[in-house]
Amino acid sequence: MNILHIDSSILGANSLTRPLSALTVERLVAANPGARVERRDLGENPIPHLTGADFSARGQAIDPVLAQFKAADVIVIGSPMYNWTVSSQLKAWIDRIAVAGETFAYTAQGPKGLAGGKRVIVVTGRGSSMLDARYDRFDHQEPYLRTVFRFLGIDDVTFVHAQGVALSADARPAVVAKAEAEIDRLFPLPNVAA
Ligand SMILES: Cc1cc2nc3c(=O)[nH]c(=O)nc-3n(C[C@H](O)[C@H](O)[C@H](O)COP(=O)(O)O)c2cc1C
Repeated sequence: MNILHIDSSILGANSLTRPLSALTVERLVAANPGARVERRDLGENPIPHLTGADFSARGQAIDPVLAQFKAADVIVIGSPMYNWTVSSQLKAWIDRIAVAGETFAYTAQGPKGLAGGKRVIVVTGRGSSMLDARYDRFDHQEPYLRTVFRFLGIDDVTFVHAQGVALSADARPAVVAKAEAEIDRLFPLPNVAA
């Protein structure tokens, strides 16, 4: 199993999503010994915005970002909410993996995803909370990511939300604990034979 571990926070060691995406990967590896993990930290090493020149050159050389995505069976993404959607660092990655003829095609029957068979797990981090009625129309992160991956043929998309850290000064520990409990429920440590 090839796991691609992506982070896209700009907040370095203070990131909320980084340790939670790492915990998710740790649990996947524990349950799948022999899994190979590739790491891409888009906060520390951002991918440049796609340019017209890059777009025109598509097909002339293999883009390592696209190749890495295609080779992955499971993709774990740490996705902070910035301005109600994904970080621009993650958007720059998406602009490199959504490639006509590689991961999707337009056919007479409509769009066809070519990247099926993968699983995507997204750990979000949010200052506000979509469970709070004041913000529930503001989510352009989960619906956006579901659309992108569905378009590429990937329906197996799981979200773990760490949300509401900015709603009070001391909210963070409980938000983290709740997200950790959800990761623990979804990806329990395998029973070790006594
Ligand atoms: C530039 C910036 C924009 C943000 N915009 C939003 C927002 O639109 N909605 C929200 O709920 N939280 C917003 N936040 C709060 C982040 O979602 C929150 O800090 C979360 O911890 C981000 O995850 P990270 O720590 O892994 O980067 C923003 C934070 C930053 C730094």
